[in-house]
Amino acid sequence: MSLEAKVGEMTQLTLGTILQKKNKQIIEPQHLDSTRAADALVNYQVGSILNCGNHAHTPAKWNEFITEIQEHAERKETQIPVLYGIDAIHGPTYTADAVLGPQQIGLAATWNESLVRENAAATAEQVAACGIPWNFSPVLDLGRDPRWPRFWETFGEDPLLASRLGVAMVEGYQNGDVKFAATLKHFLGYGFSLSGKDRTPAWIPERELREYFLPSFKAAIDAGAMAVMINSGEINGIPVHSNSYLLTDLLREELGFEGVVVSDWEDIRYLFTRHMVAEDYKEATRIAVEAGIDMSMVPLDFGFSEALVELVSDGTITEQRIDVSVRRILKMKWDLGLFETGGIPPALELYPKTSKFEKVAAQAALESITLLKNEGQNLVDANQPILPIGSTGKVFVTGPTAHSLNALNGGWTGTWQGTDTLYNTPNRPHLTRALEEQFGSNQIIDFQLDQDFTADDVQMVAREIQATRPSCVILALGEMPYTEFMGNDEDLSLFKNQKELVRAVHKLEVPIIGVFIEGRPRTFSDIEPLMDAIVMAYLPGDYGGEAIAKVLDGSYNPSGRLPFTWPRHPSSHMTYDYKHAEIAASDPSEGFNPQYSFGHGLSYTTIEYSNFSLLDSIFSVGDTIRGAIDITNLGGRTANELVLVFSQDRVASITPSVQRLRGFERVFVRPGETVRHKIKIPVSTLSFVHMDLDDRVESGAFTLTIADESAGLRIQ
Ligand code: GLC
Repeated sequence: MSLEAKVGEMTQLTLGTILQKKNKQIIEPQHLDSTRAADALVNYQVGSILNCGNHAHTPAKWNEFITEIQEHAERKETQIPVLYGIDAIHGPTYTADAVLGPQQIGLAATWNESLVRENAAATAEQVAACGIPWNFSPVLDLGRDPRWPRFWETFGEDPLLASRLGVAMVEGYQNGDVKFAATLKHFLGYGFSLSGKDRTPAWIPERELREYFLPSFKAAIDAGAMAVMINSGEINGIPVHSNSYLLTDLLREELGFEGVVVSDWEDIRYLFTRHMVAEDYKEATRIAVEAGIDMSMVPLDFGFSEALVELVSDGTITEQRIDVSVRRILKMKWDLGLFETGGIPPALELYPKTSKFEKVAAQAALESITLLKNEGQNLVDANQPILPIGSTGKVFVTGPTAHSLNALNGGWTGTWQGTDTLYNTPNRPHLTRALEEQFGSNQIIDFQLDQDFTADDVQMVAREIQATRPSCVILALGEMPYTEFMGNDEDLSLFKNQKELVRAVHKLEVPIIGVFIEGRPRTFSDIEPLMDAIVMAYLPGDYGGEAIAKVLDGSYNPSGRLPFTWPRHPSSHMTYDYKHAEIAASDPSEGFNPQYSFGHGLSYTTIEYSNFSLLDSIFSVGDTIRGAIDITNLGGRTANELVLVFSQDRVASITPSVQRLRGFERVFVRPGETVRHKIKIPVSTLSFVHMDLDDRVESGAFTLTIADESAGLRIQ
């Protein structure tokens, strides 16, 4: 291979650069510009293309694009097929009429690894059928700062939960019937910036980086993930794209990752235009390639290609270094079967029927819905709380997220920001439509509000409620779609007009059911007491409206549990694994007093835990802690109970968290049944990262806790 051919393999361009344009605007309907495509794919020998132009395409269109791209690739010196990558992060984001499930934060609320695996496999089958074998998913960053606009793209705040669900997603993508590559992103420490704003500086000491942010990536690398994408931000003053310690010493030598490391969007350019650690493109390219980047998501020009050819030609970078990256990229193309198929998509008639994927997306939406509060008086039995709503009386539905499929799906849906209704999946109902289908349209009174509704609109809602006298009001609150910096916000509070809406309806003394459809837990403690019931739907996807409706009418007994701590205040937040000293710093009357705790969620039955015991109380490092606990269902509905096992390390050489999640498992308990549930916790899971950066168990006294039951043990 010539140097140019090798550099071409390390170059990734976005589809938009090779589409027909007029006055720099992509012409619709989109078609490849054969001159621009030939220049990129034959002349510059670009080895990878990503993204979608600027919106979703039908499978037929993808087939046309990918076929033409590969036909160009066949005319280059090496004839090596192009590797196409895309963000299919909650189903096929950019495939028209595909099946879209919950975003990761909603999948996390299911705490169900097999369901996450099945949804990932469904994505892989649909996307690979379009000729796209590389997915920029999962996000394994942690959602520990709700201000961060990509909070909803994570599996929540805890390293164990993110690790186990991240592994499940990688297995779903890569271990199914199609050749498909997962990408772990964004390595490392993305989402925990000082400001809470996307891609802004983070100060994360290496011990904390390893304790909290590394485990999910390590677990998924051990599960065989084929690619890793790098964090666009900077940590402790060093842009991660230029950090050879993280990208080579840690990722390659310590974690043993052998796959492809791809930059994030324009992040080599940003080294000299945003981070200011390089004089120019050539210097930025040198820094990034020497740090360990294999492929540059350039993705808008040939600056990287030209700079890298020059750097090798003038001896600044050795060709041996280039060969290392090219080998990784060609191995990935080989493993994905591109050399067998030439990268040509499967025949269109082989495109799978979407009906086979609807069930797993709908089930994930159902299992994600989290009942946070259920009080007030039921309309049928005054001794019961307001939910589930019976079939009696009118139900008044309004709120800014009630009439929007876009709100249910969030960003990365049809378009990057997910705000364009033009690309919504046909015939998928928004919440109001789903409620009409579930309850019957004659029971639902529908009053449409858009996101920026005014005080006058609120008065009209109040008058309409007074006129129609409904038995209860459903207020669909929350956020409209966003992602990345577009979702940066100065204030985590729920929007002012939505709080005013709740206050106005509360004055009418009609029971209120608040439904949050949003990517992050906005704070609303001042109006929380005004609502009788509260449901968190996260971003449940195309089947989310129906899922919410089935929880509200009681067809489904809610089982979702929060994968994060819900803050009570917009400007102070602690995660569940806070340190003892944080309590001392808190208001003594408040202490740790979130709006809702990590793992919180109610159901339509009552579960009681008792008789927690361990088989032993003294353990050594290589042992497994075994125990059992009784779980009794005192209510009338089968429970899909989430058993959470937390550990408390009484004294340690690093300040111990007040608790850490060490195990979780779903257990079904029928009405009246008592299940003796066994737990198995390897002592190794009680480890923590020490000052010498070694992750090891320290002897001492521990407690394991499940619900309100605890048992003591000692590690010797
Ligand atoms: C974006 C995102 C990344 C995504 C990539 C390609 O900037 O940070 O998550 O995979 O670009 O779309």
